[in-house]
Amino acid sequence: MKTQAQKVKHSNVAELDFADPAVDDLLKFSIRQQLESLAQQQLSQAERKLKLQQSFTQAMTAVLTDSVTVHEQLTALFTDMYDQAMLSMAQAALSQDVLTRQYVSATGLIMSPLNCSTTIKDIYRIRGFVRGLDKAIKAKLSNRKQVRLLYPACGPFAPLLLPLLQYYQDEGGVDSSQLKVVLVDIQPGAIQSLHQLVKDLNVSDYVEAIVEADATQYEPQGAIDILLLEALQHGFTQEGQLSIARHQVQFLSLDGFLVPQSISVQAIMVHGDTEFNQQWQSAAYTHSSNLSAREQRVELGEILHISKTALIAMQPITLSGDIEVVQAGTLLLPDGVTDMPERILAIYARIHAFGDEVVDEYDSGITHPLPDMTFYVDATPSVPDNKYFVARGGERVGFYYQLSGLPRFIPVKA
Ligand SMILES: C[S@@+](CC[C@H](N)C(=O)[O-])C[C@H]1O[C@@H](n2cnc3c(N)ncnc32)[C@H](O)[C@@H]1O
Repeated sequence: MKTQAQKVKHSNVAELDFADPAVDDLLKFSIRQQLESLAQQQLSQAERKLKLQQSFTQAMTAVLTDSVTVHEQLTALFTDMYDQAMLSMAQAALSQDVLTRQYVSATGLIMSPLNCSTTIKDIYRIRGFVRGLDKAIKAKLSNRKQVRLLYPACGPFAPLLLPLLQYYQDEGGVDSSQLKVVLVDIQPGAIQSLHQLVKDLNVSDYVEAIVEADATQYEPQGAIDILLLEALQHGFTQEGQLSIARHQVQFLSLDGFLVPQSISVQAIMVHGDTEFNQQWQSAAYTHSSNLSAREQRVELGEILHISKTALIAMQPITLSGDIEVVQAGTLLLPDGVTDMPERILAIYARIHAFGDEVVDEYDSGITHPLPDMTFYVDATPSVPDNKYFVARGGERVGFYYQLSGLPRFIPVKA
């Protein structure tokens, strides 16, 4: 049977590559565009905006309530929010180039607006961040009249904030004289899309500025009370979270809040099949509450801790070739684990959003453990290569974090 990509290729869309995942995304996009234009024929602009606003408020109502909303209901609400946000993005009429341009900058991956658009469906990431952010904003408002919030690398939908602003607008709690936000992204397509979305929602009074800039260089005007930042991929790799946070933390007021308040990066040794396959076979969905094989792991411990204090104290080291690294944690590899040679290293982030709100392992794509097949303990790679790190139980391993276009951890013998 032919795949969708193959069929399209055979219908003379010659410039598309064969079964390329990037092309699949484009295909999905063009199909969606057709569906969208169909939908638009039946909806007036006013009706479309109302549906958009309602979808955002309804998703946030479910997220902010303390009673448990079942997963299927949350999925439906977040899918609706995504569909409505995509309709808004379609109104912004981004060119195909602007929509799909993705590249690696000096400090990390810059995802395309198209690839970023799905992050608004990442239920438990948004839930943890929004609940934390709501608490952070209200805590700040307890001793001042107005709070200024900066959200760098916010993506085309600023999904950790704009839904909450729409909820405040509809349901009350925080008005636009109390909260002013600055949205920053380096992608022109994200900026175009943000302008459209802010206009379509009822939130423009909260928005002080939408800025196209590199967040590792951008200097906000005036002090910032809350820095909201999530430029993460799983395993704390690829995107420039640490470089952006290190630069922006200097503009945070002395008592300002970083959201997330802290990120703890953990290292574990796992049986790959048990960890990534078997334990999920009977789970309804991947989430920390559905983990069943935790006790089968060998926990190595925390390799990096990021908080406001840690960021301010961080002293990167410059290596030859101008490569900057940050010294992270040192771990003692346990000795005498008989099945250690069959285990692989996996690294994941546990995000403490604010107060008691967390995004734990497997709650989101960004907290999904990332396997590292180059790290050997009590075992030897079949083909020697200096890309492999080989150590024995009882040895100490130090981790460094490389602040480059491909941010990642590098283990060394300590
Ligand atoms: C995964 S997307 C959106 C992340 C968003 N915070 C969210 O919660 O969904 C990542 C976005 O970060 C932006 N970005 C990455 N590095 C950046 C940088 N150095 N300066 C500004 N924007 C950046 C990209 O352009 C992209 O729009």
